[in-house]
Amino acid sequence: MAGDVKSVVVIGLQWGDEGKGKIVDLLSRDADVVARFQGGNNAGHTLVVEGRQTILHLVPSGALCPGTVCVIGGGVVVDPVVLVAEMDELAGRGQALGPDRLLISREAQVILPYHKAIDQARELRRGKGKIGTTGRGIGPAYEDKAARIGLRMIDLCDEEFFRHSLRTNLEEKNAYLEAMLGHGVLDYDAMVDELLGAGRRLAPHVADTSRFLHEQLSAGRRVLFEGAQGLMLDVDLGTYPYVTSSNTGAGAVASGAGIAPRLLSKVVGISKAYTTRVGAGPFPTELDDEMGERLRSGGGEFGATTGRPRRCGWFDAMVVRRSVRLSGADSVALTKLDVLTGIDPIHICT
Ligand code: IMP
Repeated sequence: MAGDVKSVVVIGLQWGDEGKGKIVDLLSRDADVVARFQGGNNAGHTLVVEGRQTILHLVPSGALCPGTVCVIGGGVVVDPVVLVAEMDELAGRGQALGPDRLLISREAQVILPYHKAIDQARELRRGKGKIGTTGRGIGPAYEDKAARIGLRMIDLCDEEFFRHSLRTNLEEKNAYLEAMLGHGVLDYDAMVDELLGAGRRLAPHVADTSRFLHEQLSAGRRVLFEGAQGLMLDVDLGTYPYVTSSNTGAGAVASGAGIAPRLLSKVVGISKAYTTRVGAGPFPTELDDEMGERLRSGGGEFGATTGRPRRCGWFDAMVVRRSVRLSGADSVALTKLDVLTGIDPIHICT
């Protein structure tokens, strides 16, 4: 983030897991703020800093850079219990994030236990036709946001309102879980205290992050926007329906972080030197043979969130070219080139 570049967006150009965390970690050393703008704890960024591995799902990768402020924007879906656990883990490593270092948008939607139950029960019911979601409740949480029955971080901080809305929502969700998905009903009392407890812990961090980011950029500070997943998993532009439930491209920064598009100076796209994908859906260059296995073991291609083996294949230039066009990437960081060492010939889909 050198010179007069004030805001950089880092996004994945394939199906996620391109190594964004590594690049964000490098760039965030020069950044004042690192912000997430979409997705939730379906993401998993594995960072190895000074030989020590940290896997972050919700907290932006800048958390490991002292002095960098981390922002979770309004377009993110937040599992409050997971977020508190992640903050506790970081604190245990001497990297505590106080309210001066971690801000959470008051507009961010809350992932609730019924979202996870619905996500998992639906996948089970789909059987072979499943999407292969991470089971973290991402889709159902975004559905509720669009249906205008979602609960937001600001609601989690208002105990009376939260208790009432949760009870009302749960009635409907339980009827659906039981009648449609053959799932047992969820107990209100069992979930409300844990959620409110997490809400109390997070309340000092809940802020108007859109205003904060605007003020930071106006004051000339450097802001890094950290994308999750990749463009081929974008709900509008990806391999629908085998996609995630948010917009994963650079365009999503404006709505997901709450800043005007013209405030973005640069887009960096991240791509692996080959291709991987977790979950179901089309994958033209997939290798079901020994070469696929070689890429998987050589690249350590196992999901950071679910531990699932990633599907592996050759580099797909059609996919990356399209993603560069859609995101307006100014530059591309190619990762894991070393995994191809000794492979001859290397195939590229054009
Ligand atoms: P969901 O986001 O959990 O609903 O999952 C939808 C699809 O996106 C599934 O194919 C997941 O494997 C995939 N997905 C979600 N997050 C990630 C990620 O961070 N990396 C790679 N694939 C992901």
